[in-house]
Parts: sequence; structure tokens; C-alpha cells
Amino acid sequence: MNPFLIKGYISPLFFCNRVKESEMLISAIRNNQDITLFGLRRYGKSALIHHVFHQLQKEYVCVYADIWGTSSIEEFTKELVNGLISSEVFAKQKTTTKLFNLLKSLGASFSIGTDGLPTVDVIFNSRNQQFKSLEELFNFLNQLEIPILFAIDEFQEIKKYDNNVPFEGKLRSLIQQSNNTVFIFSGSEHHLLNELFNEYSRPFYQSTRMVSIGKIDKGDYHAFIAGKFKKVKKDINPEIIDYILEISHLHTYYVQAMANFVYGQEKTPSSISEFDALYREYILEKHVFYSELPERLTKQQFSVLKGIAKTRLVESPTSASFMEISRIRSASSMHRAINSLLDKQLIIKEEGKLRLYDVFLEHYLKFVL
Ligand SMILES: Nc1ncnc2c1ncn2[C@@H]1O[C@H](COP(=O)(O)OP(=O)(O)OP(=O)(O)O)[C@@H](O)[C@H]1O
Ligand SMILES: [Mg+2]
Repeated sequence: MNPFLIKGYISPLFFCNRVKESEMLISAIRNNQDITLFGLRRYGKSALIHHVFHQLQKEYVCVYADIWGTSSIEEFTKELVNGLISSEVFAKQKTTTKLFNLLKSLGASFSIGTDGLPTVDVIFNSRNQQFKSLEELFNFLNQLEIPILFAIDEFQEIKKYDNNVPFEGKLRSLIQQSNNTVFIFSGSEHHLLNELFNEYSRPFYQSTRMVSIGKIDKGDYHAFIAGKFKKVKKDINPEIIDYILEISHLHTYYVQAMANFVYGQEKTPSSISEFDALYREYILEKHVFYSELPERLTKQQFSVLKGIAKTRLVESPTSASFMEISRIRSASSMHRAINSLLDKQLIIKEEGKLRLYDVFLEHYLKFVL
């Protein structure tokens, strides 16, 4: 099996570092503090949540709900209930009847899967009873008398619901009344989470511990990758590992994907130039994802995007040299282009420098230029 996972979580064996982050989370959880976990896309928030679950599974019933793509309170509740159903709570015989009662009282339609577990399809609620099923869910959690760790991933989605401020207030009060449940709210849209948790006028104001995750230490990642090759007696040139860590900006998913790619080669490349030749093919295969990009951007935006890809990291976009690389004449056009690329999340500012958010797109643009 390829030890470099590019989705999901298996066990600590396939997980690199995050020691401090895990300790912080675990200590907050044991002290009954709710947590907001923030990090850029694909840095490893969801995997970290599962890593923490793995370490706390004897102490807590761990529940994971991903609310990405939900657009209403009903859908939100449905995902939470589905998370609950797929957790260990169901394995506890005492809770089974309670859970079926909960499903009935939610007025939910559910189907039983091949694993014998129900999945909620829809929750039927009249408009003025929107909060009712959420209350029932929290009542259910409160009666359980077992410690529960409840992670709600992609939490920023709740900002997109109609009626979101009264909903936040309701959710906040339900959360505050539950004594046996600790919550992790996780997401990647910094400004949205920031508004939710740090705006004075909002219900969640400063109600949770903020934990952010960034890059994994370079030396630790190097040792992790080298160790996986060594374990199966595959040779790998350490320069190639350094090169991967460099060109991936240490962005977790891309490190994993590149390491997975090298590991999967029948004959491991022995030099950086051999690696590059293989990697080029791998990146060019992605043209299906990227070929329509120029149509979504103005000429200037695309030109600046290419300029950033070519430069890799841009400290000062209005410097003469960068203006020339990206063929932009005025500082104000440059500012406009940068702001729209930031808005579209095609680029990010990291440690004061601009780069492409999608590392593969950076490499793709570099290869096709
Ligand atoms: N510490 C780690 N060690 C090894 N692999 C990791 C680590 N953290 C994450 N990964 C892997 O990196 C990939 C991306 O991680 P994950 O999906 O958790 O990121 P995310 O921040 O939740 O992304 P998104 O914002 O898209 O939800 C996954 O394949 C995961 O298995
Ligand atoms: Mg995630």
C-alpha cells in the first residue's frame, strides 16, 4: 500500500507530526473548551480532527459532521444526525432505542443501509419549527450521559443560510447548555470564521479557543517521507525529498500527492532532473481541470496569475520587475488584478508573500508557459 495518503485518515502511522496542535486540542477538549480550528484549504484540518479522535476514542464518543454544501438549518441538522448515526454512539446498545426515538421525533425520513445503520434523507419541518429538530438533537446528546466530542467541519457554511443570525444565537445557546459535549468548529474561510467568532455583535463572540494549523516542520516532513521509503527498502535521493518540500511550499496535500507519486513509480527517479521529467507528465495530465481557467479571468488577471506562478512567491507586486514579468503597466491595474485573484481564492498571501493557492496550478502554468 502507498503510505502517502491523499485522502482521509487511517492511523498515526501515516500521519506526520502535528504533535503540538494535537496536544493543544486534546488539552482544550479535556478542559471542556469548545474549539475553532482554522487553516488554509488542504493543510490537513480534517485529518487532524481524525487524528485527535483516534487518540481520544476511549474517552469520548467522537462524532464527525461535514456540513459542506448545506444551505439550510434542516440540512445542517440532517448532517449532524448522520454524523451521530455513523459514530460509535450506535454501538452502545443503551442508546439504540433512544436514537430511533430521536429519528421518529425529528419527523425524518430515513433509509437503512447495507450496514444496518439508518441514514437520514430529509427532515420535514414547517418553517416556524426550524429549530425544533435541532433542539431534539441536543436533547438527545444531553441525555446520553457519556462524554461526546462533536466536530463540525466546514462550519463557515452556516453563514450562507437564510436567517443566519437567529440561527447562530440558537445554536450558541444549545451548545452552552450541553455539559457532556465538546465541539470543534473547523473551516478554511478565515474571514467568515472570523466574523462568526470574533465580531462583537455576534452570538459566538469569543466563545471558543482558536487553534490554527500551518505548515508541518520541514525537517520532520523530510524524516517522515524518508522513513516510509526506508521501511520497504526503496532508495530515495534525499535531494528529491527536499525538492518536493520546496516546490510544494510545504502545503500538506501537495507534499502528500508528490510523495505518493514518486513512491508509486516502478523505478524511483534518482535525480531531480529525472523526477522533473516524470512529474511534468503528471502535471500536464491535469490540463482538463485547468484549461478553462483563462475564460474565467480577464486578460490582465490571467497575466498576473501567470506572473505569480513564474515567480513562485511575490513580495511586492508593484515592483518594476514583477510589473514587467506580468506585463501590467500601472500600479492600480495591478492592485485590481491582485484583489480579484485573492477574492477568487486563486492566490493567497502567506507570510507576507503572494503565491498560487493551488500548487499544481502553479506548476502547470510554469510547464505550459
Ligand atoms: N499530518 C499529516 N501527515 C500526513 N498526511 C496528512 C497530514 N495532514 C493531512 N494529511 C493528508 O493531506 C490531505 C489533505 O488533508 P485534509 O483533507 O485533512 O485537509 P483539509 O485542511 O481538511 O482540507 P479541506 O480544506 O480541503 O477540507 C489528506 O489526504 C490527508 O490524508
Ligand atoms: Mg477538510
